[in-house]
Amino acid sequence: MGRLAVMDRDPLVRRASPDDAASIAALYADFLRTYGHEAEPAPILRFLIRMLAAEWTRFFVAVNAYGTFMGFAGCVLSYSAVDQSGALVINDFYVDVPFRRLGVGLKLCRAVERCAVELGATRIFLAADPDMEAALSLYRKAGFEVMPYRSMTRVLPDARDR
Ligand SMILES: CC(C)(COP(=O)(O)OP(=O)(O)OC[C@H]1O[C@@H](n2cnc3c(N)ncnc32)[C@H](O)[C@@H]1OP(=O)(O)O)[C@@H](O)C(=O)NCCC(=O)NCCS
Repeated sequence: MGRLAVMDRDPLVRRASPDDAASIAALYADFLRTYGHEAEPAPILRFLIRMLAAEWTRFFVAVNAYGTFMGFAGCVLSYSAVDQSGALVINDFYVDVPFRRLGVGLKLCRAVERCAVELGATRIFLAADPDMEAALSLYRKAGFEVMPYRSMTRVLPDARDR
């Protein structure tokens, strides 16, 4: 493999800002598709601009030497009642198909971990589909343990109007 090919795949992982919204949006529809959701580009962009600017979120992006966005992680500030301290929740996690199995996901996990430590948090939470073998394998490698809980959600009445 040539040197340029290696550089092309070597990611810089950094915290994202609202200026990155369009680049993350370019990957976001594919991310949602992994959950069987189809979404239009314009609302995704508006949503990401809001999320990236929110005080209670932390987004990270992996960008290669050519400025190509390889993947992202979106987190929410939370807390752990058990630890009585802050926690981060990984809400979104995606690596674009051409850049998989190159360690990008692991680097994003480490960036989330560093951020949690800087925030004084003691724990990182996430929920994953039990069929998402790649994600479960990555998270195990990054040090996550499976918990005996079920994830639940309630779609609120008139949610689509908000
Ligand atoms: C899951 C995902 C983020 C992994 O990203 P990635 O950059 O390919 O992961 P890495 O290269 O850092 O892999 C690290 C380790 O995770 C495990 N892993 C990653 N992909 C795997 C796969 N397809 N099958 C089995 N193990 C896998 C391996 O242990 C791997 O280490 P190795 O390559 O030395 O064997 C990526 O496949 C993805 O975006 N999938 C679709 C979206 C998704 O599932 N998001 C998570 C939602 S909870």
